[in-house]
Amino acid sequence: MAKYSNKKCRFVILISGRGSNMQKLVETCNNENWSADISAVISNNPKATGLDWAKEKGLNSISLDSSYYSSRDEFDRDLSIEIDKYSPDYILLAGFMRILSYSFVKKYYGKLINIHPSLLPAFPGLNTHSNAIKSGVRIHGCTVHFVSPELDSGPIIAQGYTNVFSYDDVKTLSERVLKVEHKVLPSVARWLTLSEIMLDEQDKVMILNNHNGLFYL
Ligand code: GRF
Repeated sequence: MAKYSNKKCRFVILISGRGSNMQKLVETCNNENWSADISAVISNNPKATGLDWAKEKGLNSISLDSSYYSSRDEFDRDLSIEIDKYSPDYILLAGFMRILSYSFVKKYYGKLINIHPSLLPAFPGLNTHSNAIKSGVRIHGCTVHFVSPELDSGPIIAQGYTNVFSYDDVKTLSERVLKVEHKVLPSVARWLTLSEIMLDEQDKVMILNNHNGLFYL
């Protein structure tokens, strides 16, 4: 866990596609002048448009094509080698669409943070918006959490919610959830730069300075 110091908080961001969460994070970091360094953006998908955006912004943009790897462990080992070059304080999974191996998650436990498009523990995995609509829930959203080895689980840091209206389809609902994602992830990242998020030995998350870990759109 980063401690109060003059040292900038180093982030490595992992993406797989569009990268709008990564973009929002980078822009907020720059606009608000955080004491942070976005050390690298890494994508497992060489065609990720988010990678082009990161390159244009002059960020270290690395493509590590997961389709070349025959095993998850081999890919994760190379990913880990790439990440360790930057000695990040935190690794942010911002739309990183790959399951990570047990050993990878164990190695970075407490540093690895994911954004998932549902109010966990509801709707882990894929197709969260259609599953939310099908189930008839009236509330849906996103979760930012420390990553544990089980899929889409781990100590929850913050959540953002929105209504599910009767007229919603996957497009309208996912657009609203994305807007709330764009509030939650940068807020959590800012708190991390200020050492205002603590994970204790019982895996309980403490948010300091009375920040509200619940966001609404
Ligand atoms: C987001 O909804 C994120 O929660 C999910 O995939 C989507 C990625 O969007 N894991 P983007 O690449 O950040 O635009």
